[in-house]
Amino acid sequence: MYLTKEEERIYNGEYGWTKQICMKMLVKLGELFGASKLIPIELAHVSGVSYKTLGEAPTDFLESLASAGEKVSVEATLNPQSFDLKHLKERLPGNLVKAQLKLCEIFDKLGFEPSFTCTPYYIKTPRKGAHLAWAESSAVVYANSVLGAWTNREGGPSALAAAIIGKTPNCGIHKAANRKPKIIIEVEAPLKNEADYGALGIFLGKILEDKIPLIKGLKNPLAEDLKQLGAALASAGMVNMFHYRDNALEAKKLEKIMVETKNIKETMAELTTASISKPDLVFVGCPHCSTREIRRIANMIGAGKVKDDVEFWICASRFVKEKAKTFVQKIEASGAKVLTDTCAVVTWTDKLGIKTIMTNSAKTAHYAPTLNKAETILTPLKECLKTALKG
Ligand code: F3S
Repeated sequence: MYLTKEEERIYNGEYGWTKQICMKMLVKLGELFGASKLIPIELAHVSGVSYKTLGEAPTDFLESLASAGEKVSVEATLNPQSFDLKHLKERLPGNLVKAQLKLCEIFDKLGFEPSFTCTPYYIKTPRKGAHLAWAESSAVVYANSVLGAWTNREGGPSALAAAIIGKTPNCGIHKAANRKPKIIIEVEAPLKNEADYGALGIFLGKILEDKIPLIKGLKNPLAEDLKQLGAALASAGMVNMFHYRDNALEAKKLEKIMVETKNIKETMAELTTASISKPDLVFVGCPHCSTREIRRIANMIGAGKVKDDVEFWICASRFVKEKAKTFVQKIEASGAKVLTDTCAVVTWTDKLGIKTIMTNSAKTAHYAPTLNKAETILTPLKECLKTALKG
């Protein structure tokens, strides 16, 4: 792999061991995936921020990086952590809260923005064609497919190394040739809402392996529908982007797969594991809500009130919560909680006594049985609201 003189000096440790270790990590990855060089990135986004999913093991390593005084060299954001300061901190065991706060401090020392969101693109939308090093799989698919930015699905450590060096190996879908569709998906099933889009993502994620699809037949999807599709696609499989608007690509002789109504229905049914439809928690905001979603939820709630025996969480970034604060106030007046910094999947719902989660997110429904030891009910937003609200 070719390195510039400067990169070689970093590799040889002339700029300290932190940069050296990060450079070595990037070179190793580059060699593994056939990169010929490193390329500059405009933004980095690191996952593995929640103490629940990260655990204790990497804390010492991160702490030693931070105490060496090194900082990120590009704008770098963080994925959700394991609690919301306003609504969950006091309800969780003190030792877990303390461990999470220590991790947050380390990331702060390293110069990361305390964004704690899986939708960093609502804070700063990457420009079309920009190279990124993002590690949240739902954000990776959204960036590549909807925003036209270019990023591989990084792991937490490689995104961290890229954030510090400001570069990433030029491989995978940083190369135009690797971004072409390999298969055509004809969606014959009518997709009526965001949960259907998520179910399509799970269905495709399981059969596509890492093949980039051209998905045909989507009827004027909202960006938020595509967000659900991409998040689910990346949860159930290894696909990091999809095409959905370039019909010229159809001319290619590619394998075709049809998606019928029964495929969507069956996937929805698989993602509902609960035998009763009475959840402990109704959760919306996976991936974190846009301002438009917050506004829509507020309008749909109207003067409604949340039932006494159910929690209703809506997750968004601090940035979106602040931007949509008038609507947030309306939502919170109903008894629902607008959480920032976290989500139902990366917090300890089991420690809050939550055994059944109703959600409009196929990604959450896919992960919650294992990561939350919870039963799930996947249903559209309208139904989530019907369940959460009185009357
Ligand atoms: Fe985001 Fe949590 Fe879903 S991190 S993508 S809301 S599982």
